[in-house]
Amino acid sequence: MTVYIRNPVSLTEVNALEQSAVPAQIEFRKVTKMYGRVAAVKDLSLTVRRGEFLTILGPSGSGKTTALMLLAGFVAPNEGDILIAGNSVAAVPSYRRDQGIVFQSYALFPHLTVRRNLEFPLEMRGMKAAERAARVDRMLERVHLEDFGGRMPSQLSGGQQQRVALARALIADPPFLLLDEPLGALDRNLREQMQVEMKSLHKEFGITTICVTHDQEEALTLSDRIVVMRAGRIEQTDAPEALYDRPATCFVAKFLGEANILENPGFTVESDAAQPFGTVAMIRPERICISLPNAPKRANADQWQSVSGIVDEMIYCGPLRKYHVRVGSTVLIVREHVASEQQTFRLGSEVRIHWLRCDVRFVSL
Ligand SMILES: Nc1ncnc2c1ncn2[C@@H]1O[C@H](COP(=O)(O)OP(=O)(O)O)[C@@H](O)[C@H]1O
Ligand SMILES: [Mg+2]
Repeated sequence: MTVYIRNPVSLTEVNALEQSAVPAQIEFRKVTKMYGRVAAVKDLSLTVRRGEFLTILGPSGSGKTTALMLLAGFVAPNEGDILIAGNSVAAVPSYRRDQGIVFQSYALFPHLTVRRNLEFPLEMRGMKAAERAARVDRMLERVHLEDFGGRMPSQLSGGQQQRVALARALIADPPFLLLDEPLGALDRNLREQMQVEMKSLHKEFGITTICVTHDQEEALTLSDRIVVMRAGRIEQTDAPEALYDRPATCFVAKFLGEANILENPGFTVESDAAQPFGTVAMIRPERICISLPNAPKRANADQWQSVSGIVDEMIYCGPLRKYHVRVGSTVLIVREHVASEQQTFRLGSEVRIHWLRCDVRFVSL
């Protein structure tokens, strides 16, 4: 059965579901996994909804793979429990957990054709040959590999191999899909193309997916929700836009893109909201505008803050231009889309930078 879901799922819906009596499909309850004295995962509590694409994002060593291995049953927690459809799986061995798994290394059987690779999980489940063949045909079509069934993995490109790996993970209709850095081995263009494909595959199959990555762009592109991990713990969980726009901590702000952290900047940061105790002001580089020092005042000038500075650095990055602007002893990054007839500011020149007071965020350190 194919389940179609609306995508993305709104947070209100997520909250409503979390508060409802419907059990989450997957639930981590205060899970801890120690390796010696290192807590690879510490006190992890997390629910994943049916049909959701959830990404665990974090730097290397933050515990992402361990979280996935715990769910897959390849490692056992020291504390806490994992529930699938409301039932504890502590005692269920990994081979009986029935999930589809894809790792960064494609892990296809190198001596088997694409067809035989796809047939393998069905054979393991005792499916008859005719039914297997029909199912493989259908799957090859769905992932646009109709013409590749007879090839060996070594005769496929990296992207095609990863598509076969995805198809193999999906072919036995698992209740959920686990992906560990699935696009990590691909080059940039291919990765972007595969991101679009994975998103449409997820939409089509409607399968609950947990994806692990250290690539923020991938997380932002694919996910309904992102869990940011740091040193074995969850730092913040939210929908991609909310996470980018309202990071709770300095770590999240910096991990998801560039951030100007204004800790003792040498000028008063104006804001519409009161600054909570223990936080610092943060503003995204693309929210700052740059102009000549004597530029006319903006309309609604009272909604903007403006300070003078000196251009320290200009970095050209294709569609964007990045300026480092020194204001006293603080350097702010300003990011501007390149447009025709737009002024370029020279190194050492005096400029004014402006931002809307409502674009200032407060993040904890
Ligand atoms: N099998 C293991 N033995 C010992 N330490 C491990 C093992 N697996 C992971 N770790 C440690 O646990 C922490 C989290 O690792 P991991 O979950 O692989 O992080 P990530 O996938 O985010 O890079 C790291 O400090 C890592 O060194
Ligand atoms: Mg990992």
